[in-house]
Amino acid sequence: MGRGPVAGQLIASLKRLEYRGYDSAGVATLEGLHIERRRAEGKLRNLEERLRDYPPSGHSGIGHTRWATHGKPTESNAHPHATENVAIVHNGIIENFRELRAELERNGAHFSSETDTEVVAHLVESYLKNGYSPQDAVQASLPRLRGAFALAFLFKGHEDLLIGARKGSPLAIGHGTGEVYLGSDAIALAPLTDAITYLEDGDWAVLTRTICMIYGADGTVVHRETSKSGASSLLVDKVNYRHFMAKEIHEQPTAVGQTLAHYLDMSAERVALPLTLPFDFNFIQRISITACGTASYAGYIAKYWFERLARLPVEIDVASEFRYREAPLRHGDLAIVISQSGETADTLAALRYAKSQGLHTISVVNVSTSTIARESESVLPTLAGPEIGVASTKAFVCQLAVMAALAVAAGKERGKLSEFDESELVRELIEVPRLIAAALLVEPQIEKLARDIAKASDVLYLGRGTSAPLALEGALKLKEISYIHSEGYAAGELKHGPIALIDETMPVVVIAPYDDVFEKTVSNMQEVAARGGSIILITDARGASEATVDTLMTIVLPNMAASFTPMVYAIAVQLLAYHTAVVMGTDVDQPRNLAKSVTVE
Ligand code: G6P
Repeated sequence: MGRGPVAGQLIASLKRLEYRGYDSAGVATLEGLHIERRRAEGKLRNLEERLRDYPPSGHSGIGHTRWATHGKPTESNAHPHATENVAIVHNGIIENFRELRAELERNGAHFSSETDTEVVAHLVESYLKNGYSPQDAVQASLPRLRGAFALAFLFKGHEDLLIGARKGSPLAIGHGTGEVYLGSDAIALAPLTDAITYLEDGDWAVLTRTICMIYGADGTVVHRETSKSGASSLLVDKVNYRHFMAKEIHEQPTAVGQTLAHYLDMSAERVALPLTLPFDFNFIQRISITACGTASYAGYIAKYWFERLARLPVEIDVASEFRYREAPLRHGDLAIVISQSGETADTLAALRYAKSQGLHTISVVNVSTSTIARESESVLPTLAGPEIGVASTKAFVCQLAVMAALAVAAGKERGKLSEFDESELVRELIEVPRLIAAALLVEPQIEKLARDIAKASDVLYLGRGTSAPLALEGALKLKEISYIHSEGYAAGELKHGPIALIDETMPVVVIAPYDDVFEKTVSNMQEVAARGGSIILITDARGASEATVDTLMTIVLPNMAASFTPMVYAIAVQLLAYHTAVVMGTDVDQPRNLAKSVTVE
């Protein structure tokens, strides 16, 4: 709610939320006595064009950018959804929408979309029609909704009123001067204000321009702290790069350097965590790591490090499985969740489950104001800076940097690493930003290779040891932005299935630094070569000279000690995915069907 027309502010904030979805967008404002809605299919710029032609003039409004769950990404399914007296925007999923829709239709409601969201508007409308005030109608409706939601409501005839509610999905109130805002996160509100109140789960809030009342799920008034948000108000731009992804790949020497500097005392060659952990690694029997997507591959790699360096067993699972499989966890053990955004719904649920079982919790997040950061016992930030490209790059390598430092700290505390070992490992980590910069020099070679990869319809990625999870990450990166089907496999598993797919049309990318499993990987490459497969070998100078297999291309990365190779080899697989996507002409930064932050299950 503003002091002048709000459409421009809504669009500016939606731009900052577009990472959550870009299937459609819409705004609704209050114009005199009616609700004025403008919606458009596709990217936000389509809506912007529409608003340019017919700018709405209302001083209060709501807006939304959608990642489709129920119903195709069409204009009629775009938010806001509205009935005669109320317009709403929703993030999350209303799980019992079918029952509610049937009930509301029986009572005469006419639906105009296929979404789960529209039931909320009709439900609130049904109470309004029965004479409830807007506040009472929302209060009566909320307990009837199952699932996850962050909701904002705008009411016809109530110019100075906005109601918000959250369960599962995040929602924040921003306080301005004579203005008040609701947003899915502080980043969206950053250009407007830095005074932020985060709603807690089950809270709902009734806002006017001057009064902000927050209620708990039971309807009693609750107090929530207002804090100064650190979210940057600058809209990051691509500088001279064609895509954010390219810029973010190239930022890695700096981003990883900054992150490592936060966790290492470089001159003393020691790990120096930025906080004192509230437990001793000697009392931890098992670490449970959970994450989604690329962040989960950072967890898989870290498993090798914790097990090798700290002799600590690690269990790793994707959060969407972990949260429902009722994993028996030991009270007092450690759970680590990894998330760039800190808002991924499944990862948040995994964190809450671990907490409920009495585990210590650490989150490794890039957004320190996020829900996951706020709800975890200890936060270890990645200092990657804003990551805009949907495909995660610099956040991934920074996650590896944090996990590597933590694994060394754990090994030291448990007496598995001597001071000598620690300084050696820290020296190796200190080298990583320089090695990443050197790895970026293979870009022209990869650009050339991308033209061949773009012709393939399937690509296989193989690796052993810590390169096995990196193979999974390489395949994910390629498929998500180039839409070429790709699979990552532990090299030793090749003979148990994927080898059946190999012929001359299928490129096989082998990630194999010269380490203690190099020769085993070479044997697997022989198996590929014997079947006519074309091999792309990513290795170092020693590996290139020792590999006795013909390759389509050998990409030689700088020599480095074996412990932390994924942090450098990641660069090559990122560049390969990026350049292949560029050749394919896909929407690199906003690939189809994906979203940067997935706040629904
Ligand atoms: C989405 C993004 C991925 C990301 C994953 C986990 O799928 O497209 O790039 O790895 O979510 O996100 P998080 O923010 O929890 O790291």
